[in-house]
Amino acid sequence: MVRPAPVNLCNGPLRQAIIALMNSQLDSLRSHSLVVADTGDIEAVARWKPQDATTNPSLLLTSAQDPRFRHLVDAAIKEARGDVPTAMDGLFVQFGREILKHVAGRVSTEVDARLSFDEEGSIAKARRFISLYEKQGVSRERILIKLSTTWEGIRAAEKLEKEGIHCNMTLLFSFAQAVACAEAGVTLISPFVGRIYDWYKSARKVDDIPVAEDPGVASVTKIYAYYKKHGYKTQVMGASFRKTDQILALAGCDLLTIAPDLLDKLQKAEGPIERKLTLEGARKTGGDKIHMDEKTFRWMHNEDAMATDKLAEGIRKFDADARKLESLIISLAAARAAA
Ligand code: E4P
Repeated sequence: MVRPAPVNLCNGPLRQAIIALMNSQLDSLRSHSLVVADTGDIEAVARWKPQDATTNPSLLLTSAQDPRFRHLVDAAIKEARGDVPTAMDGLFVQFGREILKHVAGRVSTEVDARLSFDEEGSIAKARRFISLYEKQGVSRERILIKLSTTWEGIRAAEKLEKEGIHCNMTLLFSFAQAVACAEAGVTLISPFVGRIYDWYKSARKVDDIPVAEDPGVASVTKIYAYYKKHGYKTQVMGASFRKTDQILALAGCDLLTIAPDLLDKLQKAEGPIERKLTLEGARKTGGDKIHMDEKTFRWMHNEDAMATDKLAEGIRKFDADARKLESLIISLAAARAAA
């Protein structure tokens, strides 16, 4: 006799229905940290309704290739009247404006990685984005300008903050980068978790690193503790996650920016979850205050092989994706002109 397969109520639709009625991990996480959506997929932002959203050139390349968002690329090309750099800037702002229709807070728009070592160029690009947004009626309070966390990027951010242009420092892998950003008074930093995890997995030739030993999680925990202990106002937004364990281990961090697939997993998992980063804990462990001048910054950052590799690679990758985006614009503009 063939027996029917047992119905696993623990993993089936009934379990999902029960979780929907109870608090999910995502609901619980929202009570500890501000949850941000890390995506250029406007429909995903509309679905998750996060407080803030973050984009980067790689995410916008993916979205620009998506037929659902082709109208935004076409609008940027049309407005630019054949000028490719203008179309690039316009495209970033088009996506930012659409995203802002679905979030109550801010959207992050990233400065071209080619300007990572160009303080004045970064300032000019940030001002241009803000002016494009303001011309469309979007206040600068709703925009975070993302800059690479190089020495030049940090100096650019310091000046921009004095003009009321708020910055989000990206590609942040080392403690030296975090200390320099706090001293510069930037609004927010995005220390990466997943890319640090990737580097150590590859260096150790292992398939996984348990979350309790995860160097990416440890990096954000240390930065959070240092900032809170010394009373820095700069917000810490954990970024670049590979698995939900990493996110849960940082519950309590000021903000966490999370890709839609991981938001989905958190929504489907049963809460509540425990707060891991706390002000009390931070005050006990934060370490002595360090002053970061340029020589100290360059030395300390260079001493960290992972951070040196990952910052350089991250700049190359964001640049490569921005160039692919440029090629897409050129080919679509040519097709438009020929039509
Ligand atoms: C967010 O601001 C970052 O750009 C993003 O989290 C990077 O994530 P990745 O390492 O998965 O590309």
